[in-house]
Amino acid sequence: MSITKKFLANTKSGLKVESYTLSNSNGMEVDILNLGGIVYSLRVPDRNGRIDDVVLGYDDIESYLKPRGAYFGAIVGRHANRIGDACFELNGIEYKLAKNDGENQLHGGIKGFDKVIWQAKVIGGDNEKLQLSYLSKDGEEGFPGNLEVKVIYSVTEENELKIEYYAAADKDTVVNLTNHSYFNLTGQASGDILNHKVMINADKFTVNDDKALPTGEILEVQGTPMDFTSLTEVGKNINSNYDQIVFGSGYDHNWVLNTKGDISKMAAEVVDEKSGRVLEVYTTKPGVQLYTGNFLHEAETGKGGVKYDKRSGLCLETQYFPNALKHKNFPSPILKAGEQYRHVTIYKFTLAK
Ligand code: BGC
Repeated sequence: MSITKKFLANTKSGLKVESYTLSNSNGMEVDILNLGGIVYSLRVPDRNGRIDDVVLGYDDIESYLKPRGAYFGAIVGRHANRIGDACFELNGIEYKLAKNDGENQLHGGIKGFDKVIWQAKVIGGDNEKLQLSYLSKDGEEGFPGNLEVKVIYSVTEENELKIEYYAAADKDTVVNLTNHSYFNLTGQASGDILNHKVMINADKFTVNDDKALPTGEILEVQGTPMDFTSLTEVGKNINSNYDQIVFGSGYDHNWVLNTKGDISKMAAEVVDEKSGRVLEVYTTKPGVQLYTGNFLHEAETGKGGVKYDKRSGLCLETQYFPNALKHKNFPSPILKAGEQYRHVTIYKFTLAK
């Protein structure tokens, strides 16, 4: 577990972008940018020892700054996913947020945590970790309170990418942080993920309206295309006429995890029989968004000039349920002044038996 740093690029707007490579002795290597904490590349062996990059992204750093882009690999915040009508009430005050998804806010607003430079520092003695810090100012994108955020990335000898999130504010505010990596376990240049098998340890999901915004209703997955309680091919029901699938043009929903924040239990799993790579997800968060890259399109030129068509990758975004500020039955993303937000998610790579 060691870290090496390299300068990558100066953007047109003057951002100095650096890349940090975290590696272990099994040949796993993860490049993280100080821009947006972006997981820029994640290289792991397949069943034959062949190393491939299994996350989508751009070679061209400017592309990460496009408004309302794909959020490839980024830390999203201050509030991941949607807040309906881009507003919420807290302590009797109505906060109006930046809108970037019709009338709603998505992934922290116009300039979210994915588009800013984080202060990077290598910590941890022998077991080096990458600590990224960012101060989100009071009023940024409409959110109350100065929020100090720390995200710590580490790669373990068990082939885990571990992400620890911490935040504290000087006013009551909302915080919901996640990572937006798109995985393709055959390799980022290998087409769609419809043959990947997914398991989500959840008996229920949150129902969306046609703008991908949770309505507050929670339904059982049983008997619906949302049932991933056992390993199921992503493509099996992705074109079904079930209204939820039609609304999302595929999967773009939050599942209510049975793990209820217990990180010792598996929250989700992805199996790619072609390469033999398996991804296991563990988290302290109550929900996970499975997004199957429904809005990617060929115009998106990714790493190595690859055209990322629809469903070239899938995201498993561990989170509070989207739009929770509007639904009292959802766990609350409110962070009180002086309290500590802490969230840990582990993406672990193994091989199929
Ligand atoms: C959202 C999608 C959105 C995608 C990229 C996902 O987390 O749920 O609706 O299109 O991110 O922005």
